[in-house]
Amino acid sequence: MDEARERGIVVAMTGASGAAYGLRLMQRLGGLGARLHVLVSDAARLVLREEAGLILPEEPGTAAETLTRHLRLEEGRIVCHALDDWFSPAASGSAGIRRMVVAPCSMGTLARIATGASDNLIERAADVMLKEGGRLILMPRETPLSAIHLEHMLKLARLGARIVPAMPGFYHRPESLDDIVDFMVDRLMMQLGLADGSEKRWGE
Ligand SMILES: Cc1cc2nc3c(=O)[nH]c(=O)nc-3n(C[C@H](O)[C@H](O)[C@H](O)COP(=O)(O)O)c2cc1C
Repeated sequence: MDEARERGIVVAMTGASGAAYGLRLMQRLGGLGARLHVLVSDAARLVLREEAGLILPEEPGTAAETLTRHLRLEEGRIVCHALDDWFSPAASGSAGIRRMVVAPCSMGTLARIATGASDNLIERAADVMLKEGGRLILMPRETPLSAIHLEHMLKLARLGARIVPAMPGFYHRPESLDDIVDFMVDRLMMQLGLADGSEKRWGE
């Protein structure tokens, strides 16, 4: 957790359905005291508006304020970065950030990460995780999956990325949408090595 407080964790939201996963992840990580470097694609802004009714401004400072208020987090937990901010700590391995989650992850971003495009800060930060041996966790969402999607996931899994598809289980008998979202966010927390004990686990 010290590393998450000092260096921070990159949380990227892209334009797949499932904005609630990214929002809830930020809320839980921020609640644990992590510093979050937040990257949001233009398409993710559309999905946020459609699915969560949240209008996220483009300007990073105002976006961070909006998210902090929406998620009822302490000030300073969230820092947003423009996707062309190549001076952001997320853009370089030397900044020492070693954990990144893309939730939800669109098939477009998945493809660009798999090919090393590094054309925006989300893709570049993921590239940094792969080259530095950091923990890159992707939550893809699409159905059905084409062979292209599957090939990209296989390639990234072989490179060490953790693929955590938005595929909730129902064996914990969810009673609400929040339960379903939390089931998936639990998996992200476990992959980050930041499980806080509230996770629903098999056999419990
Ligand atoms: C409301 C909405 C839902 C979408 N859902 C998905 C989805 O579940 N999976 C996906 O791969 N793309 C989905 N898309 C399409 C992507 O947003 C689109 O391919 C976009 O170019 C992705 O850009 P990004 O990777 O930069 O975020 C959706 C778009 C909208 C507006």
